[in-house]
Amino acid sequence: MSILFSEKTKTFHLYNQKISYIMTVLPNGHMGQLYFGKRIHHKEDFSCLLERQRRPMTACVFDDDSSFSLEHTRQEYGVYGTTDFRHPAVEILQEDGSRLSDFVYAGHEVTAGKPKLPGLPATYTEAQKEAETLVVRLKDAQTQMALELFYTIFAEGGILTRSVRFTNEGKKNVQLTRAMSLCLDLPDCGYEWMQFSGAWARERHLKVRKLEQGIQAVDSIRGNSSHDHNPFIVLKRPTADEEQGEVMGFGLIYSGNFLAQAQVDTYDMTRVLLGIHPFHFSWKLEPGESFQTPEAVVVYTREGLGDMSRTFHRLYQRRLARGYWRDRERPILNNNWEATYFDFTEERLVEIAEKAKDCGVELFVLDDGWFGARRNDHAGLGDWYANRELLPHGIKGLAEKIEALGMKFGLWFEPEMVNGDSDLYRSHPDWILETPGRHASLGRHQYVLDFSRPEVVDHIHEQMSKILSEAKISYVKWDMNRSITECYSRALPADRQGEVFHRYILGVYDLYERLTSEFPHVLFESCASGGGRFDPGLLYYAPQGWASDDSDAVERLKIQHGTSFCYPVSSIGSHVSVVPNHQVFRETPLHTRANVAYFGTFGYELDLNKLTKEEQEEVKEQIRFMKQYRKLLQFGSFYRLSSPFEGDGNVTAWMAVSEDKREAVLGWYRILSHANPPLARLRLSGLDERLCYRITENGRERTGVYYGDELMNAGLITTEGVSGETAPGEKGGCDFDSRIFVLKAERSCLEGEE
Ligand code: DGJ
Repeated sequence: MSILFSEKTKTFHLYNQKISYIMTVLPNGHMGQLYFGKRIHHKEDFSCLLERQRRPMTACVFDDDSSFSLEHTRQEYGVYGTTDFRHPAVEILQEDGSRLSDFVYAGHEVTAGKPKLPGLPATYTEAQKEAETLVVRLKDAQTQMALELFYTIFAEGGILTRSVRFTNEGKKNVQLTRAMSLCLDLPDCGYEWMQFSGAWARERHLKVRKLEQGIQAVDSIRGNSSHDHNPFIVLKRPTADEEQGEVMGFGLIYSGNFLAQAQVDTYDMTRVLLGIHPFHFSWKLEPGESFQTPEAVVVYTREGLGDMSRTFHRLYQRRLARGYWRDRERPILNNNWEATYFDFTEERLVEIAEKAKDCGVELFVLDDGWFGARRNDHAGLGDWYANRELLPHGIKGLAEKIEALGMKFGLWFEPEMVNGDSDLYRSHPDWILETPGRHASLGRHQYVLDFSRPEVVDHIHEQMSKILSEAKISYVKWDMNRSITECYSRALPADRQGEVFHRYILGVYDLYERLTSEFPHVLFESCASGGGRFDPGLLYYAPQGWASDDSDAVERLKIQHGTSFCYPVSSIGSHVSVVPNHQVFRETPLHTRANVAYFGTFGYELDLNKLTKEEQEEVKEQIRFMKQYRKLLQFGSFYRLSSPFEGDGNVTAWMAVSEDKREAVLGWYRILSHANPPLARLRLSGLDERLCYRITENGRERTGVYYGDELMNAGLITTEGVSGETAPGEKGGCDFDSRIFVLKAERSCLEGEE
């Protein structure tokens, strides 16, 4: 990896073994984009890549040079109104009402490693040799605003991160009204756009469409990254698939309002913008003040969607998530939410926990309902002390009982919220986000606390810290169950109200940072009515997130498949729940519920006492299996073999392969069973073609051994004859069926090894 600069041509070339990123100082001093893609040879002069076509008289040009209009030039951080008419990366409102800026190259610096982003989550390095960072400094002479463009190239993988810092070096106040984290101009538009969208209980469903002239975007203006759209998009060539082809993934490490947009102009040039949503955003910069944007991550590959995902997985797993739990196998948990909802006593919880322990569960989690006056979802949020009627020995007493059983204990919080019926609201009614004189809307009967105010964050911190210090708590589930409305902070002046959404998220990050540093061994799981804030920002603090409130195994196929495009298996909270399922009322077999949940953090969302003896034995077996293979499942390389979003979506298949490729677990899921079905083969991926593997299918060994190249080319036969008859001793397949295959390389069968 290297960052080269040619003084003569004022050109930068950032490259590693996979990618090249080339940019130059344009004739007007702005930064121009020349190339982003597969690594190419270095040379001093890449000016041939700067297309300076003469355009018709309609183009407005710089300095009467008819071959230089910003409108037709690829830029690093586009500005509007000075010959470019595309949506810009930046807009600054000045005291005289002008919104123009003219950022001109003023210098640069290259450093080893990667600097931290103050107050914000970001990828990091552990050794300086892992990455290099370029900071390009630009200056707007009129306002004296300084703009620093940060680029980090990692040594491994086609990864580039970007962020931006503004500093007011002038004498007058300005208002930043748009400050994107990334602006990338591409020379063509021959891509398909992929987004991951949905709603509560059907998060991150894959949607694909051709990129067209005009604007396509996904966003959130709900205050959280949202169930609706994820801050992650992909541009892929139409011919690219899981295994090959040109793909670019763009992720934003942020948990609040965002915009991810591609604008294709009528010359077929594509501008990608990613960052904080400019809608309802402004940030006042007084002289001397700075503003740092969140970080954007771009992954480029020519090896298809699978390689893009695995690159994101490795980066987010190893250099975004942090702390004690980063590389550790995640405890198998039993959460009481779907088992009891609000209807529990200490005795009932201990009964559930005892059976969980008996089955091999490692962590018991008490969900919503344990605090203040909470008996249903109308009261109690904000009062983080145990309800002694339900828990006579408090959280400390319950935690001790669970520990005495030989399990760890975990607890649910919803730190950012308050109910009208709570001591906190009664003593601080002005601590909620609401616009004076306007109606304050409720969501799940609760208000949103004004986390832009440090004293509010301090107060919640004090309460949570007390509980976490007093009781032996090993896990925290941090929930967030509504979006933000009537966004306004009583603590800020009128000209800073545009800052509230972002300051709110900074408050959330601040509380996470404090708690994770004070309690470094506690495992945090993020949650927002399921997957309403499943984003890279929170992975920095909480290495796993509850992926969805929909725990039905069939529904989970789409949710977990979509999520896997960006997020590692170790981050995807997935549990086995009861049937009929509480969200869709479907009955699925117990083995399928577990087979889906294995590709995640794994746990149970039910009272195991209510299962039959045979089912309890099956659960014990599932837990034994998960303990044996969880390192491979959670931290191995993940491959999508068959997609629930393609064709009739009837078959989904995923695979996790160990680093040395000697072991793999393959999950195969079929929604509906068909009579007399066609032949079916599944091509596997990620194996060593020279190794030969033994295969067990649902615990039974298949005869013979199979070379990796055979499995990856000829495929594994998965046809299952369902025609009213079964072979003696065999059970027929059913709807919602699934199989788990375990592949193990023979000890000494590596071709040419002996
Ligand atoms: C929403 C979460 O997604 C659920 O798992 C549960 O924790 C409830 N909130 C509790 O109110």
